[in-house]
Amino acid sequence: MTFARIAGTGSYLPDNIVTNRDLEQRVDTSDQWIRERTGIEQRHIAPAGQTTVDLAEQAALRAIEAAGIKSTDIDLIVFATTTPDKVFPSCACILQARLGIQGSPAFDIQAVCSGFVYALATAEKFIRTGTSKKALVIGAEVFSRILNWEDRTTCVLFGDGAGAVVLEASEETGVLSTHLHADGRYEELLHVPCGVANDFDAVKAGKAFVEMKGNEVFKMAVNTLGRIVDETLSANQMEKSDIDWLVPHQANLRIIKATAKKLDMAMDQVVVTVNRHGNTSAASIPLALDEAVRDGRIQRNQVVLLEAFGGGFTWGSALLRY
Ligand code: ACO
Repeated sequence: MTFARIAGTGSYLPDNIVTNRDLEQRVDTSDQWIRERTGIEQRHIAPAGQTTVDLAEQAALRAIEAAGIKSTDIDLIVFATTTPDKVFPSCACILQARLGIQGSPAFDIQAVCSGFVYALATAEKFIRTGTSKKALVIGAEVFSRILNWEDRTTCVLFGDGAGAVVLEASEETGVLSTHLHADGRYEELLHVPCGVANDFDAVKAGKAFVEMKGNEVFKMAVNTLGRIVDETLSANQMEKSDIDWLVPHQANLRIIKATAKKLDMAMDQVVVTVNRHGNTSAASIPLALDEAVRDGRIQRNQVVLLEAFGGGFTWGSALLRY
């Protein structure tokens, strides 16, 4: 049996850090409110001119180096983002050219905060079926560009960044299962209400902003993530105690703690970056994974659960034997 194994991870954050105190100067908020409700203390914000692909390129180079391969060994690029550089071509194609790769399939996936899990699940199918041998899977965002910096209910929550993994075919171990879901009925609870084909004038006027009914999204996220955890364990006939690490999407520390509690996991088995990164949407899981791999917390052969919930609604999980 062929598995898709993570051969290397990489990530990149813009240098510029914006603290909660900085935001107190811009909107009617407080460091205390943001910390207590979300766990966020700071976020990285890309300067004007630095794009999603710019961040992704750095993360990709680090993942490729960690995997011990050359860029030209990559035969598939799957790129999760909601904040692409251009309407077209895709970020995957722009990145492919920058990495000096020609001819491989390369495409973007848009599932907002669940984007990386969707991208990983997609690339994994290419590898399992023998279509690809070495896939580059990216989650990268400049979410700061779609925030209304006068709306305190959203602008304090998000940040920019990129994460990447190289997935390669392996006979031994890798992704054990992936689980993807969506329910489009909740579109209006979390969305940017304009786009190319709908109210493009608002986009051109620089008013393409995230709108969220945070409280309702919060309840849905906690319940749905509880269910996806059960689904993943049961598909693998595993017990909660079989999981070594939880690498959750980093939207809110309270949501992360609720999922850890559901799994009977202590918080020192959970990789948390939301305090330093905020919610980086599709980038949050590969950023957290890379951090915990590089600092030695996540070791080969350990069982790692990735899970995410985001706009769409979309949600999903991936269970790995790392
Ligand atoms: N500073 C100070 N006060 C604020 C702020 C702020 N930044 N934002 C909102 N408030 C106020 C509200 O106006 C409200 O005041 P009121 O009671 O006078 O009306 C009060 O704080 C409580 O607001 P709630 O929205 O009920 O606060 P809640 O405890 O739900 O926390 C939060 C809000 C942090 C957004 C939370 O609901 C959340 O994390 N939701 C889920 C987000 C998420 O997971 N999104 C999915 C992924 S993102 C994606 O896919 C793009």
